[in-house]
Amino acid sequence: MSLPTDEEAAARAHRAFADRFGTAPEGVWAAPGRVNVIGEHTDYNDGYVLPVALPHTTRAAVGRRTDGRVALASLQGDGTVVELGIDELAPGRPDGWAGYPAGVIEGLRDRLARGVSVLVDSDVPVGAGLSSSAALTCSVALALSDLTASELTRTDLVELARRSENDFVGAPTGILDQSASLLCTFGHALFLDTRERRTEQVPLDLAAAGLELLVVDTGTSHTHADGGYGDRRRECERAAARLGVAALRDVTDVAALAALDEVLLRRARHIVTENARVLEVVAVLRGVADPRAIGPVLTAGHASLRDDFEISTVELDACVDAAVEAGAHGARMVGGGFGGSAVVLVDRDRAGSVADAVRERFAREGFTAPRTFDVVPSAGARRIA
Ligand code: GLA
Repeated sequence: MSLPTDEEAAARAHRAFADRFGTAPEGVWAAPGRVNVIGEHTDYNDGYVLPVALPHTTRAAVGRRTDGRVALASLQGDGTVVELGIDELAPGRPDGWAGYPAGVIEGLRDRLARGVSVLVDSDVPVGAGLSSSAALTCSVALALSDLTASELTRTDLVELARRSENDFVGAPTGILDQSASLLCTFGHALFLDTRERRTEQVPLDLAAAGLELLVVDTGTSHTHADGGYGDRRRECERAAARLGVAALRDVTDVAALAALDEVLLRRARHIVTENARVLEVVAVLRGVADPRAIGPVLTAGHASLRDDFEISTVELDACVDAAVEAGAHGARMVGGGFGGSAVVLVDRDRAGSVADAVRERFAREGFTAPRTFDVVPSAGARRIA
């Protein structure tokens, strides 16, 4: 699938908004999905993450109204416009996809008392662990802040978008996805310390090193409002409480986990070793070492998510095994887990044969054919019209 340019995407959203609402929008904003290079489930443990923004974005065409109503339309839905009074917004109301932008609007309700119309259009795959929900909330958050609350910083918008997802939609996520969507820059991975909120743009020019970062969407869906993600979060909080630390970020030596029972020990060990892996990958990318050196660290991250955190699936495991056997430098599942996508680090001239090997393994196992694409670290959220 070839992606539209920002100009094409803006023109399409502008036209669709005018069709639905009979007036031009005040502007169009775009926000990307993400893949995380390393640092999974560390964000709600005050730890480190290293995402890149995808070239795939969600666009929000937005116009303020004068009748106190909120109208939400999506080019990906069935065409129905979700409409209600701004005072009727409440957690779960509206539900479904419209809850995400509605939660952001609710967060700025004081400034939007006269209502707002939003039309969204997206090419971020949904349910693939690539942050389609953050692309949606962040495109709307940036739009509304540009229009009404320009004193808000991008870090404030990360919080606004996270609150929409946590409090309005009811998905207990951390800040990885929203930070990636709002703070990433072209050609870089974003090294984020989620406790200190310190960021560093780490140059990531894989093409110059003859490498590709392949995303393999297994087509198996995940949803964060479901139980598994929240269970892991609570287990991590329990482990931190038993160890007497504010968050698992405060533990750097796995020997300190010995007091935990077996399950909590494995959950906590994933977080402790994953934080170390983020630091190791950042050190490689900052230095002169060949970026291929991060490959085995990614694969070790997968093993930890599979064995200690227990959030992988047979499809994701098959993808990682087949890719590494076929000569990839490393591979791992990405995102919240229980389905979704994997990333594969591979030499450019081997990318085709590695993708074929994954497809063949899926066919042999009777899994649905996966979708693959190459990721160029792309720009964060921006105004496009
Ligand atoms: C989801 C959540 C993020 C993060 C990842 C796992 O994407 O939205 O906050 O916890 O899972 O790293």
